[in-house]
Amino acid sequence: MKPYPAYREMADTAIANLDLPTEPRQLYEPITYVMSQPGKRIRPALTLMACDALGGNLEAALTPAIALEVFHNFTLLHDDVMDRADIRRGQPTVHRRWNDNVAILSGDAMLTLANRLIAQTPAYCREQAVNLFNQTAIEIYEGQQWDMDFETRHDVSEQEYINMIRLKTSVLLGCACKLGALIARADAARADKFYQMGLNLGIAFQLKDDMLDVWGDPDTFGKEIGGDIANNKKTFLLINATARATGDDADELRRWLNDPYALRDQKVTAVTEIYNRLGLRQLSLEAIGRYNRLALDALESLNLNIEARQAFESLINQMAGRDK
Ligand code: IPE
Ligand code: IPE
Ligand code: MG
Ligand code: MG
Ligand code: MG
Repeated sequence: MKPYPAYREMADTAIANLDLPTEPRQLYEPITYVMSQPGKRIRPALTLMACDALGGNLEAALTPAIALEVFHNFTLLHDDVMDRADIRRGQPTVHRRWNDNVAILSGDAMLTLANRLIAQTPAYCREQAVNLFNQTAIEIYEGQQWDMDFETRHDVSEQEYINMIRLKTSVLLGCACKLGALIARADAARADKFYQMGLNLGIAFQLKDDMLDVWGDPDTFGKEIGGDIANNKKTFLLINATARATGDDADELRRWLNDPYALRDQKVTAVTEIYNRLGLRQLSLEAIGRYNRLALDALESLNLNIEARQAFESLINQMAGRDK
């Protein structure tokens, strides 16, 4: 068992060796552009770690692991169009560097590439892997649509928010863990515990992403700060701000949410100050702690050897403490 950065590097090497076509350039250049950026590679790393933790064959897990990373990057191309986001991983997003059409079609090609790669899962668990992958993909699209629907709703509950991030983000981390377990020939019950660990880690992961969108350092985070506030995204923060704000704060928040002509920077600053006054940073950290606890409970129930347990524990804590 190795620490997470070692698995991330394995994923980076496999991605660098993908050997993509070059023409038409407007189709393939954006794919090479996005895939060669320094992502955290958390999804393929989880697949490799789960497989390794159970003594599985890492070589057999590498291509399916990369399938998840290509798929993830496909969702980012489309997500950045949908969220009107200009910067990712410190560089212009594909739709800004090229245009929306390029982001759509390069994204489509990446989805197909991901399908091809997942189909290279070893035969003994290929059907399960492909079914898991397809189920996960459709759930992510559902989550993304809820996320968009919620922009124009003002009555989204915390429970609806958690379900939305479970779909748009967490299921892929659950899938990543379970995929590694399947490749290591885990039985269904064990594979499902890996899924539960990834799922709960994924909820904490998106809660943290939403925090960084408000309080992160753009140079480190690699994305523009305040996009969620600008887009009226119903994050844990905004839902709790709406529920807790009283008096002037409540009036001001309502005004910003309903002003289509609000200046972006002014709105982001003002809403962030409301979040600060309401102590929402702390509230978010507590929620992250609860989901991490659930991830650690699932980990414990797996009864892995101490080395494997510590590797996952350390990854879970690293993700909660990350600044990018
Ligand atoms: C970004 O994913 C989208 C979310 C689910 C928050 P990551 O935070 O894993 O982004 P990269 O791949 O490391 O850039
Ligand atoms: C994205 O959530 C989830 C998916 C890409 C499916 P966000 O919209 O919060 O991700 P970022 O912040 O743009 O990376
Ligand atoms: Mg989004
Ligand atoms: Mg986004
Ligand atoms: Mg985000």
